[in-house]
Amino acid sequence: MPTTIVLGAQWGDEGKAKVVDYLTERADVVVRYQGGANAGHTVKVGSDQFVFHLVPSGIMHPDKVCMVGNGVVLDPEAVLAEIDALAARGISCAGRLFISESAHVVMPYHQALDRAGEESVGATRIGTTGRGIGPCYRDKVERTHGIRVMDLLDAEELRQRLPVVVAAKNEILTKIYGQPGLDPQPIIDAYVGYGQRLAQYVADTSVLLSQAIEAGREVLFEGAQGTLLDVDHGTYPFVTSSNTTAGGACTGSGIGPTRIDAVVGVTKAYTTRVGNGPFPTELLGPEGDRLRELGHEYGATTGRPRRCGWFDALPVRRSARINGLTSLAITRLDVLDSLPRLQVCVGYRFGQQTLEEFPANPRVLAACTPVLEELPGWQQPTTGARRLSDLPAAARRYVERLSSLSRTPVSLVSVGPERAATIDVE
Ligand code: IMP
Repeated sequence: MPTTIVLGAQWGDEGKAKVVDYLTERADVVVRYQGGANAGHTVKVGSDQFVFHLVPSGIMHPDKVCMVGNGVVLDPEAVLAEIDALAARGISCAGRLFISESAHVVMPYHQALDRAGEESVGATRIGTTGRGIGPCYRDKVERTHGIRVMDLLDAEELRQRLPVVVAAKNEILTKIYGQPGLDPQPIIDAYVGYGQRLAQYVADTSVLLSQAIEAGREVLFEGAQGTLLDVDHGTYPFVTSSNTTAGGACTGSGIGPTRIDAVVGVTKAYTTRVGNGPFPTELLGPEGDRLRELGHEYGATTGRPRRCGWFDALPVRRSARINGLTSLAITRLDVLDSLPRLQVCVGYRFGQQTLEEFPANPRVLAACTPVLEELPGWQQPTTGARRLSDLPAAARRYVERLSSLSRTPVSLVSVGPERAATIDVE
């Protein structure tokens, strides 16, 4: 498919980077279009493991072009650290990493405000990654204080604007949150320096991307977080601040929806979530702990233990609808290998009703209980499988059930972290 969006169909951490890495073999260009350094995309190649926060994971393939679109909020310190870490492993970004001049920049006051805001609300906090994502998007939408990558390249502009912006943020930090204010001068010096180092990567990525598509290049859009964390379609307010859904690929990269050929929704064979918010199939107690240990379910960005539960068809069904999914990539099937029996959620009980669609209203969702269907486990290793027919019959049936419940055909099944541990169904 010439242009394909790969996005999370659940609450993030679905294994998108593994799927993107696998599909990148066929692609020429890989694009990040939303989110920021809150994402943690882990790619394992041989014994080497790399966690990407901002640079598209396609950079591991030496001949690919990678873009960071206008919809991303860019932490320049984090992206430069990633570029340096890649260079230390012999992977150069020069001439093949392009960062949108229109992307907004995450500043130290965004991080300070993110953390102070979370601390101030106590138990009702969202459980953000603390990377300044919400406050940066807030400035983007609010318009007065937003700093874009193009501003980083203009030292004079930064010197004029930052003292005013920092003073305004200090008012909030000190007077509302009782936190120390920030000194603008070290911020100006650091960010002018970041601008100088980043200049070689900055471009109008919308133009470059359109040219690549016109020239028939294969483009992969790498989503961050997941559909249920989308600011419009997720479990608001326990969401991130960007559009993680397929529409976000267009607004976040500057190409039209008619240019998109396929949308792959990545879903784990079970469900996880980090941070607060509703999670109807969450397993509290030993079953959840077991799933967490089997899947090593700890956040790639924050190290936080992920909440774990059975596969829930309703969020994935919602995801299929909102994103117009053309296929599903099911990941981490192998994590379930040792379990004697599995459950999947096929609906929610809400009073006397059974719901088939994920409710948008959090108060309705809070009153729902999952309707679970039991399926037999296979209790055999699946990591060596390369075709669906290599899977034990019960594992095949499980995959088929997830597909029919999600009303979406399956294009890939991942049975291990390695690039090779992938079943290509098409
Ligand atoms: P923020 O994006 O840091 O503002 O966090 C908002 C919510 O999104 C929190 O529940 C985070 O745990 C969640 N979140 C943000 N990034 C990721 C991710 O990459 N994977 C999973 N959850 C995420």
